[in-house]
Amino acid sequence: MPIGTLNGRDLLLAPSILAADFAQLGAQVQAAEAAGADWFQADIMDGHFAPNISFGPLVVAALKPVTSCLLDCHLMISNPELYIDEFVAAGAQHITVHAEAVVHLHRVVHQIKEQGVRAGVALNPATPLSVLDEIVADLDLVLIMTVNPGFGGQQFIASSLDKIRRTRAMLDRHGLEEVVLQVDGGISARNVRVVAEAGATCFVAGSSVFKHQQGIAVAIEEFRQALGTPQRADNE
Ligand code: DX5
Repeated sequence: MPIGTLNGRDLLLAPSILAADFAQLGAQVQAAEAAGADWFQADIMDGHFAPNISFGPLVVAALKPVTSCLLDCHLMISNPELYIDEFVAAGAQHITVHAEAVVHLHRVVHQIKEQGVRAGVALNPATPLSVLDEIVADLDLVLIMTVNPGFGGQQFIASSLDKIRRTRAMLDRHGLEEVVLQVDGGISARNVRVVAEAGATCFVAGSSVFKHQQGIAVAIEEFRQALGTPQRADNE
């Protein structure tokens, strides 16, 4: 069930497991699913494209039996085309590659789609939207990075709002209503509403979910309230 709706579009919360406690990853994912997470994002980093090393397909495969939520793999890696098959085999239902990491972007997007997996392209903060001009019609998702890749807990880059609005306008201009407009980095219950009003429909949130002082369930309920759909209390 989407975390909210706005302008007739479902809004999806995709907690990023990068911020989870890896000593109890399965339990944290199940708690987030029970609290209403729609997807989970696996932030894959190779220490080359992104200045950090996270985890690979093994962790995605370990989570597959633990949750019924869609597993969305964000490949912040060089040569992602070499690993698509492994992430598909691990159970990824969504794979996003960085336009900056790929020479033959059309080929890689179709390599993902030919495996029956939904394909996304991510743009770093300094990468212009025009990079998507020739490929946007082939995509299932566009990811606008609102921080520079590498770490959780960073501040939302304020200029991203205008880029999100221009991305929404691009998708609407092309009649691409079904394409998910995802944002990632520094997203919290405090800014999610304005980001949704700018046109985003999927919110990757790591620290604001898994490192919330009052826990995962409260964190997700705050998102739901910020997006205007507070959970009904049992006695309402
Ligand atoms: C950066 C990662 C982070 C993460 C979200 O490479 O992609 O943006 O998923 O982190 P928070 O929500 O903690 O900013």
